[in-house]
Amino acid sequence: MTAPRMKPWIEAIHAYVPGRSGGGAGRTVKLSSNENPLGTSPAALAAMRAAADGSNRYPDAASHELRDAIAALHGLEADRVVCGTGSDELLQLLAQAYAGPGDEVLYVHRGFMVYPIAAQRAGATPVAAPDRDYTANVDTLLASVTPRTRLVYLANPNNPTGTMIDREEVERLHAGLPDDVLLVLDSAYAEYIDDAAYEDGIAMARKYENVVTTRTFSKIYGLAAARVGWAYGPAEVIAALNRIRGPFNVNSQAQAAAIAALSDQEFVDRCRRDNAEQRARLTDAVQALGNHGLRPIPSAANFVLVEFPPEGALTAERANEFFTGQGILTRWLPSQDLAHALRISVGTEDETGIVIHALQDFVGQA
Ligand SMILES: Cc1ncc(COP(=O)(O)O)c(C=O)c1O
Repeated sequence: MTAPRMKPWIEAIHAYVPGRSGGGAGRTVKLSSNENPLGTSPAALAAMRAAADGSNRYPDAASHELRDAIAALHGLEADRVVCGTGSDELLQLLAQAYAGPGDEVLYVHRGFMVYPIAAQRAGATPVAAPDRDYTANVDTLLASVTPRTRLVYLANPNNPTGTMIDREEVERLHAGLPDDVLLVLDSAYAEYIDDAAYEDGIAMARKYENVVTTRTFSKIYGLAAARVGWAYGPAEVIAALNRIRGPFNVNSQAQAAAIAALSDQEFVDRCRRDNAEQRARLTDAVQALGNHGLRPIPSAANFVLVEFPPEGALTAERANEFFTGQGILTRWLPSQDLAHALRISVGTEDETGIVIHALQDFVGQA
């Protein structure tokens, strides 16, 4: 008997590994998935509960009202917006629509784990361009482009490193790409940034035929569980995504919650300010442990990558174990060439204090 065989390019995929969740006894401080520690806008939660009443009906298949709300807030054409089951769905579908067997999909080494999976899922070959001190390097990206390159993913800021490149660099990357290569600007953390030099991708996606940008409600909007994201880009790219997305890909509660979340920009502003404050506090505390070989990588997002000494008593692996013993969950990513680092999400003021103390204790007990 012969069993069904999955396609070889599917067999080659290493499944996405999510950040750990709690489960043990006692308090868990979850700083492993870059979620919003301040929760969700009460307006969004109320809208979500109210929408549960209509659960016998399919959701609006085209997320009309949500697209209108996104378009109004960002000054966009609603017909050039498409919503997804998280931005993850849209990132996956972009590879599916624009790359296939024999093609290459380019991304930055130590970039977002979903990109190589998306490329392989489409049967294409993922190609990682070397980074420069944990930051996207436009020169190595452009040098990695071949006639087979069909798509380039750039997370800006990048996950898991938190580093950002400015508008001039993103424009330089675009200018160096052939016109038939799609540039995907993944701006999952855009709302955390208050910097005039930052390019969130919207202006470029409006201007260029080969640029699309993706956004999410999972981060600053505190709706990770609802799974809602969106993309904005040229009509042709949006049409491609609409052809292959799930027909009812964003459920009614998620649509309602996202619409209400957009209307509560006070919540968003508070989260941005709080994140900047706690991120600076965490960064400074790590900096102060520099004589022990710890180093914070400057972050523009809601997490900080912390480098540990590669050997000895103070490795990232040991720190990860030490934190776990205290109920603190951070992210150790040896599979992403980051065995010597931990990614720590920015928590509440209280949680940031706890993780700073744990870092100091870890260094002190060694
Ligand atoms: C860079 C980046 N892009 C996209 C996502 C996916 O977000 P979602 O699918 O929840 O919208 C994440 C989540 O961690 C991310 O870090």
